[in-house]
Amino acid sequence: MKDFRVETNYEKFFSHRKYIKEFLNAQTYPFKELMAFYKCAMMEVETKFMVLNQELSLEYDRNPIETIKTRLKSVESIFDKLTTRGLPLTVKSVEENLNDVAGVRVICGFPADIYSLSEAFLKQDDVTLIAKKDYMKNPKPNGYRSLHLIVEIPIFLHDEKKPMRVEVQFRTISMDWWASLEHKIRYKKDYIITPEIAEELKVCAESAALLDSKMEQIQAKIQERQLTDK
Ligand code: GTP
Ligand code: MG
Repeated sequence: MKDFRVETNYEKFFSHRKYIKEFLNAQTYPFKELMAFYKCAMMEVETKFMVLNQELSLEYDRNPIETIKTRLKSVESIFDKLTTRGLPLTVKSVEENLNDVAGVRVICGFPADIYSLSEAFLKQDDVTLIAKKDYMKNPKPNGYRSLHLIVEIPIFLHDEKKPMRVEVQFRTISMDWWASLEHKIRYKKDYIITPEIAEELKVCAESAALLDSKMEQIQAKIQERQLTDK
């Protein structure tokens, strides 16, 4: 007699697999949708800066923005942040509690470009400022410098207009270079930052800031010359 046992289990496995897939899709869909919304908001902010860069480059004959970087927070980081803060692991909780799921980093040549760009950005009538942290005027105790904005901008879906939060970080090239290396050092496994190393890192941040202001002075002199030559 033929043994149908293996065949039957195989069929069962497939019908279960289909069920499990449907179940998982239904469970993860709201989260995937939310991430897609954040991605749309991030793209909108990126485009706004590309437009400003284009316009300002015509006016001043140089690009105030060197690079724009975008990133969506990973599922793991979202999970970590919510759990360490003791917050619920729901789509609603992500929207209500996290401001940095969508991140845009604008890297400029000079500190003054940061202020003029951020002002031009905040003046736009679909951009709402939620929070601002000026770590350029008030650097963090470790030397970190940057201008952080949390903004809300609407994304236009087929049947609704949805406000989404985006974190925008403005840095000069040297602020970004320092922050990237400091971040790598800080998160190096089995590496303890001693007070001496922390102090050395801070001195580096201060030197970078000094160079930024010196370069800005040179740029201002050149611009002044260009204007008087005209
Ligand atoms: P989270 O750190 O995102 O929880 O937010 P927060 O409320 O502490 O906000 P803050 O604006 O201080 O920092 C937000 C982001 O700025 C961080 O996620 C980093 O990307 C960056 N940042 C802030 N401080 C430092 C720093 O000391 N070093 C580096 N490398 N990056 C920093
Ligand atoms: Mg963050």
